[in-house]
Amino acid sequence: MANHSVLMSSPEYFKVEYSINPWMVAGVEVDLDLAKKQWNNLKESIESAGATVEVVPPNEQLPDLVFTANSGIINGKDVLIANFKYEERRGEEEVFANWFNENGYNVARIPSEYKFEGRGDAFVYGEYLIGAYGIRSDKEALMYIADEFNLTPIIVELVNEKFYHLDTCFQKLPTESNDAIFYPQAFKDESLSQFSQFFNLIPVSEGDANKLACNAVVVQDTVILPSDGIEVANKISDLGAKVVVAEVSEFIKSGGACQCLVIALN
Ligand code: ARG
Repeated sequence: MANHSVLMSSPEYFKVEYSINPWMVAGVEVDLDLAKKQWNNLKESIESAGATVEVVPPNEQLPDLVFTANSGIINGKDVLIANFKYEERRGEEEVFANWFNENGYNVARIPSEYKFEGRGDAFVYGEYLIGAYGIRSDKEALMYIADEFNLTPIIVELVNEKFYHLDTCFQKLPTESNDAIFYPQAFKDESLSQFSQFFNLIPVSEGDANKLACNAVVVQDTVILPSDGIEVANKISDLGAKVVVAEVSEFIKSGGACQCLVIALN
């Protein structure tokens, strides 16, 4: 599916201050100048691939606000805002809710007892809700969303703390054969049988998974990969997609790469 417009949040206050996933070493040094360059380069790559980029202003108290994928789930002009698992990120909920309100979306909330982390763990795919639960998001949240948006839930369970969001271990590709890359060891059902009716599933190696290869952004027919040396890149080109690399090493220190820094608005 094509993205024509996406939302990002600028990295002025990005840092790794706390640790809420195995990639994060609290207090590890982030090269902020490099992070800003990488973020701008990703933004330019997205624009060159054919999408416009909207930007949420940064917030000094919220270093993970850059990861706009986690803001919520968007269905047309309706948005259900995230209920973050960890206190450290909960302040982002109001920032994102305000942005969506001010930009003409109908904003609603999921019951607060159900944790849910947005595009990190779910997306709308035609009349289906493709989602994952088990680490950051709850199954009940996905069921609630499917009900609210009138979608059929197709959901899987994540079991590997290192691949704590669906977008760290699964990405659909903009190819005619509905291909998707995934890292089998991240899932309870390594064959991902629930997804195989929709996608032609292509496993990535452990090396690729550890480079967050599945956290690529798809814009029109372009796949933007987060680092050089990703083995599955050739296969993606062979399938007819255009492959571009936008190095985001500073953000990987926080456990996020290209897809985490973006959410499609349409
Ligand atoms: N440090 C952030 C966290 O652990 C990274 C979020 C990455 N986002 C994503 N969609 N996978 O919450």
